[in-house]
Amino acid sequence: MIGVFDSGIGGLTVVRALLDQVPGYDIVYFGDTARTPYGSKSPDTVIGYALEDTEFLLDKGAQLIVVACNTASSVAFENITAKYDVPVFEVITPAVELSIKNSRSLKIGVIGTRATVSSGAYERKIREVKPAAKIYSKACPLLVPLVEEGWFNKPETVMIVKKYLHSLKVRQIDTLVLGCTHYPLLKNTIQRKIGKRVFIADSSLAVAREIKKFLSGHPGVEQKISKKGLTKFFVSDITPQFEKTARMILKKDIQLVHIKP
Ligand code: DGL
Repeated sequence: MIGVFDSGIGGLTVVRALLDQVPGYDIVYFGDTARTPYGSKSPDTVIGYALEDTEFLLDKGAQLIVVACNTASSVAFENITAKYDVPVFEVITPAVELSIKNSRSLKIGVIGTRATVSSGAYERKIREVKPAAKIYSKACPLLVPLVEEGWFNKPETVMIVKKYLHSLKVRQIDTLVLGCTHYPLLKNTIQRKIGKRVFIADSSLAVAREIKKFLSGHPGVEQKISKKGLTKFFVSDITPQFEKTARMILKKDIQLVHIKP
């Protein structure tokens, strides 16, 4: 099984991308809905949660872990790989590679939660490859709740997106990284407001492509992953709103299983 975890429901954007890129592989998902959001918490707290989330997925039989949450990827990836001996994927590196490949001017914008932006993880990784890159980051804390309400195209959302993107637009970035699980759901609005010439690097698509490449290059791991086309979704808290958001993201009726952490 491929194990995917997130702070909540938003990580289903990564599951959606995996179902598209590597169909047929069994997927077990854990959304830590009882403790969401991670994006406003301290690194130590997020590290503790991320280790527990990983442990849960390994107990369920995952042979490969995907940290779908940008916040957990930014602050907890090294802690996870130091503790567990399975392949672990985070969403930052593939999104950085995609953005560098597509940026001509190397003026790159990054949007994410407060925790992701203040971790500096995207900047560090971009600069490791392109030291001369100019990176402009912006925390957009209001976008997660707007997505969770399903307010994708409401005038208020469009206005807030415009306000957040203003400082990046005036810098004339040519590439924008969506550094949060929820932002792919606002991609159309974001594209309209940042301008159609700006390339948008979607971290959910980027990590799914990376996993596809990894599986074809690592038959030893690939053969161990079950392929019955099963998907299981576990959450640490359940409300009708979580169920609605989950259906909205995956565009199908799914069963969330509530587990007590
Ligand atoms: N999953 C988080 C991320 O991608 C967004 C929601 C949260 O703050 O927990 O950063």
